[in-house]
Amino acid sequence: MWDTIGKSVFKAQRTLSFDYVPQKLVHRETQMKRLIMLYRPVIESNVSQNAVLTGSVGTGKTATAKRFCMDLKEFAEKQQKAVDWVLVNCRQRNSESSVVLHIVNHFQPNFPDRGFSITEMLRILRKDLEKRKVHLVIVLDEADMLLKKAGSDIIYKLTRFEEEGVESRELVSLMLISQKNVFDMLDASSVSTFKRTNVIEFDKYTLDELRDIVAQRGELALQDNAIDKDAVDLIAEVSAEWGDARFAIEILEKAGMLADEEGAGKIDVEHVRGAKAEAYSSITESKLKGLDEHQKLTLLAIAKASRGKAYVTTGEAEAAYKVACEEYDEKPRAHTAFWGLLKDLDMLGIVSAKKSGPGISGKTTVITLLDIPAKVLDAKMRQMLDSGQRQN
Ligand SMILES: Nc1ncnc2c1ncn2[C@@H]1O[C@H](COP(=O)(O)OP(=O)(O)OP(=O)(O)O)[C@@H](O)[C@H]1O
Ligand SMILES: [Mg+2]
Repeated sequence: MWDTIGKSVFKAQRTLSFDYVPQKLVHRETQMKRLIMLYRPVIESNVSQNAVLTGSVGTGKTATAKRFCMDLKEFAEKQQKAVDWVLVNCRQRNSESSVVLHIVNHFQPNFPDRGFSITEMLRILRKDLEKRKVHLVIVLDEADMLLKKAGSDIIYKLTRFEEEGVESRELVSLMLISQKNVFDMLDASSVSTFKRTNVIEFDKYTLDELRDIVAQRGELALQDNAIDKDAVDLIAEVSAEWGDARFAIEILEKAGMLADEEGAGKIDVEHVRGAKAEAYSSITESKLKGLDEHQKLTLLAIAKASRGKAYVTTGEAEAAYKVACEEYDEKPRAHTAFWGLLKDLDMLGIVSAKKSGPGISGKTTVITLLDIPAKVLDAKMRQMLDSGQRQN
């Protein structure tokens, strides 16, 4: 079997993985330069600096922050200064204690995960920083998740972190990353810590920028001449709608895998089209995440009512919606508002609502699920609604 598979288009597929950080982030020179200007006093004068990185999905915030921190550490070493960095993903760790624990773990990987208060853990961290004479840049990625859940106290705790003793050397700098504006979530003292001038914006990538990103990643990941120029263009085009580099890289990888499955030896536009169709389901996923409580309940209702059927009427959907509301202890919205919910889901392209369907006389509106099987959607919605309840 192994001898029948053709030559792969990939030479280093790992460079397409989500945590690979390229040496150079094309079209992020401005942001990189601003970071250097903002954080140079850390090395030059031992003072803390803070910044906020903001922009929509896949605009390179996390990758730029990582690349910057790696370069900063290396540059500091050359100046005989010790600078280190740690990135906390606040989607995974959205409580004060799990954030602080992760930071303590950076120096003490075996530190016990319970039994210490936040104050104690911060004291231990301070000792580590003093002992190692190191300045630590703490990157709070997806910081809005933490701020929403735990408030901005943690910012205060982490920024009032000076070395005890005579010589003044500040120990910690912060970098916040968020898609949303975090200033609304900060208290007054934290707002002054993060001056508004220290905000670095990441715009959506343009078509041309995406083309360069795909070309760069193609050179790293693929064999020579393993992708058609038209295919690169098409990847840029399909991802330009979102300006999202992650999507572009995902399509590149999926297209490569499709080419390999066929033993084609080269990625062409057909592989890109196939990859786009597959990736579409993950877009649906992200749309679902953005729904509010009643939109989710409506979708759950439609999923329940649609089992084994091509479409449901709005009457059936509304009845199922009331049952779902009861189940989740929510007060159902009134009839007109329910129509609004259906319209939202239609606009998002998750369902299609059309005037009457086959086999139905008169002017009834019928609702069809577009991309996801009813069973899958049902389970998905329950999972989301359940985890939403736990958070409240
Ligand atoms: N300018 C760039 N050059 C090369 N690769 C890039 C560039 N920008 C982003 N990427 C790549 O695109 C992917 C997504 O980038 P990243 O994770 O930094 O996005 P993000 O802004 O943090 O998105 P999110 O808000 O969803 O977390 C990563 O694989 C990253 O390496
Ligand atoms: Mg990110």
